[in-house]
Amino acid sequence: MRDWENLFMDVAALAENSDRKKNILIVDDYLPTRSLMVEALSQSGNYEISEAADGTEALTLFKSRPYDMVISDIIMPVMGGMELLDAIREIKASTAVIMVTAHPALELTVTAMKQGAVDFMKKPFSIDDLLFKVDLYLRNSGSSGNEGEDESRHLKIKEEQLSLQSYIYDAIENTPGDQEEIFQKIVELALKIVDGESCVLFLYDKTTDSFHPQVLKSSNGFRESNIPFVAGLFKEVVARKDALMVHSSSDPLIAPSLICVPLMIRGNVMGVLSVRRKRNLGVFTKNDLHHILSLAKRASLNLENKVLYESTYANLLNTFKSLVASIQMRDHYTEEHCQRVSALSVKVAARCGCPAMDVESLRIAAMIHDVGKIAWPDSILLKSGRLSEEELRIVKNHTLVGEKILSPVLLLDKEKEITLYHHERWDGKGYPCGLSGRAVPLLGRILAVVDSFDAMTSDRPYRQAMSVDAAIEELKKNRNIQFDGEIVDAFAAVI
Ligand SMILES: [Fe+2]
Repeated sequence: MRDWENLFMDVAALAENSDRKKNILIVDDYLPTRSLMVEALSQSGNYEISEAADGTEALTLFKSRPYDMVISDIIMPVMGGMELLDAIREIKASTAVIMVTAHPALELTVTAMKQGAVDFMKKPFSIDDLLFKVDLYLRNSGSSGNEGEDESRHLKIKEEQLSLQSYIYDAIENTPGDQEEIFQKIVELALKIVDGESCVLFLYDKTTDSFHPQVLKSSNGFRESNIPFVAGLFKEVVARKDALMVHSSSDPLIAPSLICVPLMIRGNVMGVLSVRRKRNLGVFTKNDLHHILSLAKRASLNLENKVLYESTYANLLNTFKSLVASIQMRDHYTEEHCQRVSALSVKVAARCGCPAMDVESLRIAAMIHDVGKIAWPDSILLKSGRLSEEELRIVKNHTLVGEKILSPVLLLDKEKEITLYHHERWDGKGYPCGLSGRAVPLLGRILAVVDSFDAMTSDRPYRQAMSVDAAIEELKKNRNIQFDGEIVDAFAAVI
């Protein structure tokens, strides 16, 4: 038997006991899934569980007794999850609602979150994730308000724990940059939240079953000898996909206390985070384990999202950019046109006070908004004379084609909208929809101004470039006719 196996080992329970059991309503028309959730949450012993087979049944239950949490499927007969979410918000806005679905479209996720859902889970999900999320959101939902004076100390501790939890979440969510920066942040946070003496993050290579140091940190000055790597324990964490807390007075790598937790991506262990020795007390508590586990889980989710998002998003954008580049090779526009329109649009959007996310969407859309021109034959693309009716129809169609090309992409909603509406006009005489005034989305109105300006100031097969002043004059002449006057003013101010 290996040495560390003789040590006292304690795997702490994740959920804390609460004085009042929180009540949870589980809504799903598919009995096996519903039963699975009911069973898992009932077994934890911390919650009172009710269940319903559709929105109507759930609402009747909810009206008779508002719940702390509702976990609801989206697509159900009679009344679906989104309608139920709306109704719940009306009755008790503080109820935490987690939406569950097998086919999450991004639009739906965003709508659900906007309507007040606290989270979204994709079927099939792991029971671990379900328990973690339920625990997390019920913690954040606070106490019931029924506790008496005697409970004040207990409540104070709970509050501190809650604020530490939200601190962890905020810190992880707000960490910009790549994976390496997140790894650094995880280790810093781990040391901070449990007042640990040293912390390591090892990446795990499944193919060779080996560990590689990624971040090593010690709060009292870095010394590599301070950093424990306990291969047996780490392997145990990988095998169990669960945390370990070990206490020992004799093992120098552990003494007096060591926490090891897995970092997971898509159900696989991708690394192990390990913190050793509490600086003042030496020995870690169950709460310490709980916080490190929360940190690891949150960081894992964040990394997973980042990895998936970044790789998918970067690949897709590159594909669209090459499509646009292939059009530009046939057209006389250059890549600089896209870059200029993109850079100028960003300035105008910032001047108009658009939120950072919208500015970023516009930056991307400005580079790919003419992707629909791929459907133009050379006879149209390079024509210098007047276009026939049919040719004009094909030209105008590039907005719809562009939107269609982007439509399967979940993450580009705003970009799709901008692509669709960038040829609409303030007076309603644009295309493809003939929207007018503020009915045209703001980002589309901004791109219309910048794109027209850049077209006017570029050489085209059928005419020479206008001067910048002449082009601005032309935009101003079309204030509140073709273009939104306020955007023309913003443009004139930043050019
Ligand atoms: Fe266009």
